[in-house]
Amino acid sequence: MKKLLVTGGAGFIGANFVHYWMKKYPKDKVVVIDALTYAGNFSNLASVQNNENFNFVHGDICDQPLVESLLTEHDIDTLVHFAAESHVDRSITGPDAFIETNIMGTYSLLKAAKIVWLDSVQADNEQPKNHRFHHVSTDEVYGTLSATDPAFTEETAYAPNSPYSASKAASDHLVRAYHHTYGLNVTTSNCSNNYGPYHFPEKLIPLVITNILHEKSLPIYGDGQQIRDWLYVEDHAYGIDLVLNKGRIGENYNIGGNNEWANIDIVKEISLLVEQEFQKDSNLAKRFPKALSAIAQNTKSLITYVQDRPGHDRRYAIDATKTNNELGYQPKESFKTGIAKTVQWYLNNENWWQSVMDGSYQDWIKSQYSN
Ligand code: NAD
Ligand code: TYD
Repeated sequence: MKKLLVTGGAGFIGANFVHYWMKKYPKDKVVVIDALTYAGNFSNLASVQNNENFNFVHGDICDQPLVESLLTEHDIDTLVHFAAESHVDRSITGPDAFIETNIMGTYSLLKAAKIVWLDSVQADNEQPKNHRFHHVSTDEVYGTLSATDPAFTEETAYAPNSPYSASKAASDHLVRAYHHTYGLNVTTSNCSNNYGPYHFPEKLIPLVITNILHEKSLPIYGDGQQIRDWLYVEDHAYGIDLVLNKGRIGENYNIGGNNEWANIDIVKEISLLVEQEFQKDSNLAKRFPKALSAIAQNTKSLITYVQDRPGHDRRYAIDATKTNNELGYQPKESFKTGIAKTVQWYLNNENWWQSVMDGSYQDWIKSQYSN
């Protein structure tokens, strides 16, 4: 039985990970620490909030004494670190928060983990107890590929290009150094682009789905030929599960979907899928009267080419051979099934994304601090 501290568990991947973990390992204890920034949503954890093995702590990972007290009070043996500023566009307009949370926040967690898991027991002359610090990173630390370059392996030299990827690369290096220098039991996973339920609608896939339903334009940066490798979010959780249970200490593991798509093609594919859903279910036209599908017009006409992102990485592709061979990892979801589930989730959970758009998703946090 594990006792987990999950940082950033109210965000997109963190919340999906908590759902995955509590379903698969119902006896494990899970504590989430989340600052509930704009990307955090308390309702993402609604289904586990009443579970006696679950605790939510509203807090900042930069608050080292708080993290130390959580590690001690809950006797945590496994820290899974998702908390981050995660949107490349925001990192271009405002990098400060990325340096603070992604670098300083990771450093704060490492210091807390070292004090509680290593230093305190050494002072008592005891053997360090079993512990694991798992750091969730991204393929973006490897930089960009041309159309013909081989995919990123764990040996690919880091070459981050955006303030986001540079801050993640810095945090990866700190995690590595805490293992090499102090003997902290760490693992790191570098994953490709995720998609699925609870994805904040500033990112490409949920933005496109929700814009289609509102007859808003579908912005394509530059020529739309940039390539991303898309993985269903539950398969990311499954990959982390394998790393936690079978991964070797001090190692990095790539997790990917072997599923490369040019942005323009994925936007066209989603447009088609939404149109098909409207054809199957006449009720959708009543629920989303603004959608072009509701008046039998072509959704693709919403596609609008806009100015490119500065420094836009051309292509990401993950070679997950090591993770596949060593841990037996294979994604369970194909892109066809994963994207169909995702479109369905957004059609069925309008309340969730409307509350993000109108800001009411932050009511819980406001209510905690009023008066
Ligand atoms: P997200 O932006 O949806 O969620 C981040 C969460 O972290 C939010 O709940 C936010 O409130 C919380 N948070 C932010 N700053 C915090 C702080 N200082 N203290 C405590 N909590 C804080 O991000 P995501 O897409 O779920 O990504 C999670 C992790 O996975 C990140 O580390 C990201 O780099 C990595 N990752 C993401 C992707 C992807 O496609 N989204 C791919 C690979 C790796
Ligand atoms: P995004 O979802 O922001 O993820 P990342 O930048 O981490 O890969 O973007 C995915 C791709 O889609 C990326 O190449 C940028 C592009 N993009 C658009 O073309 N239009 C948009 O409105 C957004 C948000 C992204």
